[in-house]
Formats: sequence, structure tokens, C-alpha cells
Amino acid sequence: MAVTYCCAIQKGGVGKTTTCFNLAYSLAKMGYKVLAVDFDSQSNLSTCFGKQDSGNGDYYVEDLMLAMMEEEELPDRSEFINHCNGVDYIASTIGLSVIDAKLRMEMGSENMLRDILRGFKDDYDVVLIDTCPSLGTLTINALAASDRVIIPADPELLTMMGLKDFLKTVSKVKKRINPNLEVAGILLTKCDNRTNLCKVITDEVEDAYKDKLMVFHSRIPKTVKVGEAIYYGMSVEEYDPKSPAGVAYSEFAKELVGYES
Ligand SMILES: Nc1ncnc2c1ncn2[C@@H]1O[C@H](COP(=O)(O)OP(=O)(O)O)[C@@H](O)[C@H]1O
Ligand SMILES: [Mg+2]
Repeated sequence: MAVTYCCAIQKGGVGKTTTCFNLAYSLAKMGYKVLAVDFDSQSNLSTCFGKQDSGNGDYYVEDLMLAMMEEEELPDRSEFINHCNGVDYIASTIGLSVIDAKLRMEMGSENMLRDILRGFKDDYDVVLIDTCPSLGTLTINALAASDRVIIPADPELLTMMGLKDFLKTVSKVKKRINPNLEVAGILLTKCDNRTNLCKVITDEVEDAYKDKLMVFHSRIPKTVKVGEAIYYGMSVEEYDPKSPAGVAYSEFAKELVGYES
């Protein structure tokens, strides 16, 4: 039975997608069967995996959501589960933004994604959901479908300001929709240890949350290798296994599964 994680926080550009992509690869390399789900209409995770909207009748996550809403049968798995470097994934397109609007008018709409993923839980060890930068209905669906939330956060004041609101949303979802939901922890991303700001904010986060939440020991350094790897359609661990970010994502994967055992 898979453990479902989502990478979420309403701030954009903090490394949610990058974390999903690299974590999926590192976990697969460790032998885990991983399903990644792109649940952002920007489709950045799908792009990382090399998926382009071909317009030729492929199925995307929004098609599954629509089928759920209309109480129709889901298409055959082979029509929407893609494969890349040992990772299975479900892609999205801009069409997911239409679902966002529809969900707001739908009864019991919070559990649509959970109900879709329920059908796969026995076939995977880990399901990883990438989310969009908002606290809207799509993110609520992702939180409702998850056992744990990974909160990627770059050491910037504006990110830290958003963290409080995000944690409030997580707590509401836990209370009202998904009692299983736990925060796995805060993953500090894009860390530039040469800057004083990085050190100051990292210390502040650790001080503020150390008694309440896990701040993962693994921290992801800021490096151009991350963007280069994505450009070449690879995880940073695969692109340059010795680069600090490659090592950090691999260490993070080990740290994360270590808490499950
Ligand atoms: N560790 C890192 N070092 C350097 N650049 C990074 C790192 N992590 C992410 N980035 C870059 O930052 C940008 C935003 O990352 P992304 O994962 O798309 O954020 P989000 O999904 O939270 O919006 C991307 O251009 C990505 O390549
Ligand atoms: Mg993203």
C-alpha cells in the first residue's frame, strides 16, 4: 500500500516541482515503485518528464478528474500512465485549470483525487503529487489525497511569511477532510550557504518550528545543475551524481523513507 506525499505550499518558485521530479527518481533508484502525479495546470512536472501535450487523444489528470465528477469509468491505465526512467507518472495540461473552476461548484469535490488514486495504492510504494501555487480547490484535493505533506521552502522572507497560512490550511484539511494527513516536514531548497540571509532564515525556521515540525536535515543547495539537468530531461542525481544537489536529493530520499520505517 503506497504512502502518498504531496509537495505543497502556496508560494511559487520554491522547488515543489523540482523536488517531486528529483525525489521520484531517487526513490525509484532505491527500488521503490513510484507514481508521480502532476496536479498543476502549468504542467511543469510533465515537462520535466519530457511529456508534451500532443493533442492526439492521450489522457491527462484532468480527464480523470472530469470522469470522477461525471461518475464515469476511468480510461484504461495504459492510456494515462506514462513511464520515464523507472518512474510512472500521470501528466497534466493547462486543461486542469478548467477543472479547478468546476470543482468549486461540485458537491463533495475535495475527495476526487483521493478516489482516483485509491485504485493505484496497492500497485505502488510511493505516490508523489506535485501541486500548484495556491490554496485553492486543487491543492485541497491534493492534501485530501495525501498521507504526508512535504513543504519545500526556499530561505526567503516571503516564503516564510506564507508558511503560516499554509500550515493553517493543512490543519483545517486534517480536521475536516483527511484525519490521516501529517506534515512530513519542511525541506529547505535553493539554499545558498554563502549568503547571510540563507543562514539567518534557516536558523529562524529551525527555531520557530523545531518543537512542532520536522525541518529535514537534508537541505537542497542552490545550483545551476538543477536547471541544467531539467533542460536535458534528467534528475540532477542522474545528470551529475556527484553534484551537491544530486547528493542532497538522494540523501533526502533516504531521510524521508527512514521516517516511515
Ligand atoms: N536547488 C535549486 N537550485 C537552483 N535552482 C533551482 C533549485 N530548485 C529549483 N530551482 C529552479 O527554480 C525554479 C522554480 O522551481 P520549481 O521547482 O518549478 O518551483 P515550484 O514548483 O515551487 O513553482 C525553476 O526554474 C527551477 O529550475
Ligand atoms: Mg511547480
